[in-house]
Amino acid sequence: MPGGRTIVIFGGARGIGAAVATRFAAADDRVFVGDVLDASPEVFAGAPQGNEPVVMKCDVGRPGDIATMFDRALDGGRKLDVVFNNVGIARYGEVDTLSLDDWRLTLDVNLTAQFLACKRAVTEMKRTGGGVIINTASILGHASQKTTAAYAASKAAVMALTRTVAIDHAKEGIRCVSISPGTIDTPLVQIAAATFRDRDPDDLKREWAALHPLNRLGTPKEVAETVFFLASPGAGFITGADILIDGGIRSELYA
Ligand SMILES: NC(=O)c1ccc[n+]([C@@H]2O[C@H](COP(=O)([O-])OP(=O)(O)OC[C@H]3O[C@@H](n4cnc5c(N)ncnc54)[C@H](O)[C@@H]3O)[C@@H](O)[C@H]2O)c1
Repeated sequence: MPGGRTIVIFGGARGIGAAVATRFAAADDRVFVGDVLDASPEVFAGAPQGNEPVVMKCDVGRPGDIATMFDRALDGGRKLDVVFNNVGIARYGEVDTLSLDDWRLTLDVNLTAQFLACKRAVTEMKRTGGGVIINTASILGHASQKTTAAYAASKAAVMALTRTVAIDHAKEGIRCVSISPGTIDTPLVQIAAATFRDRDPDDLKREWAALHPLNRLGTPKEVAETVFFLASPGAGFITGADILIDGGIRSELYA
């Protein structure tokens, strides 16, 4: 495996992003994580001593923070090899009640931030001969759940952004792909389960698991393995695609 590459991860303090950070660090890649939260211990677990991910404060809703994150990661002339755009937030509501502020925040954080990171990544990668950009979309970009208008729209747009970046910049050796996870057992999902006050969170998670033909939730590690593969030379003919990591849920119309 390659090793020695530089990867910038937006949204890697916990959950899927943390697992991806660990996976690349374990392969001797240099990992820079930007997040609004402090890193959870799992970010450093499994990283070889001396190659722990570097974690910086970065709010992707602020364009200046994205720029600073790249500047610091590329300090000293490091070459940008991989970008993983993984931040995602959800604000719920039917369109008549969803506020314009929540709609805008969701699109700023989930979509515009990925546009800005793609913009900078492409600029760097064109100069240095190519690279890989991986954007996190969602199964909800393929099919909706009630009250997810803002989130679902942002994730469908992530796939459209990905396809266009891929075809615009294939000639420069840049690959751009998106991933669409089903339900993955992360803090986000644990928090979502805990918000249904009249339900036991574990029961709820079992119910969500049963919606997937594989009858379980996915793990952050499984997503990380896919992202690691997509960034590798073995995935060299994959660009513009969206990769479902969804336990089969998109394939079934009625359970
Ligand atoms: N977990 C799932 O079931 C699932 C399913 C489909 C898609 N996804 C997508 O996968 C990605 C990761 O999800 P997760 O479940 O690991 O979520 P998570 O909430 O556990 O992790 C997301 C990370 O993004 C960070 N973040 C949030 N807002 C930020 C901001 N403004 N600037 C910088 N960092 C910010 C959080 O602090 C966190 O570390 C998201 O894009 C999410 O939409 C998750």
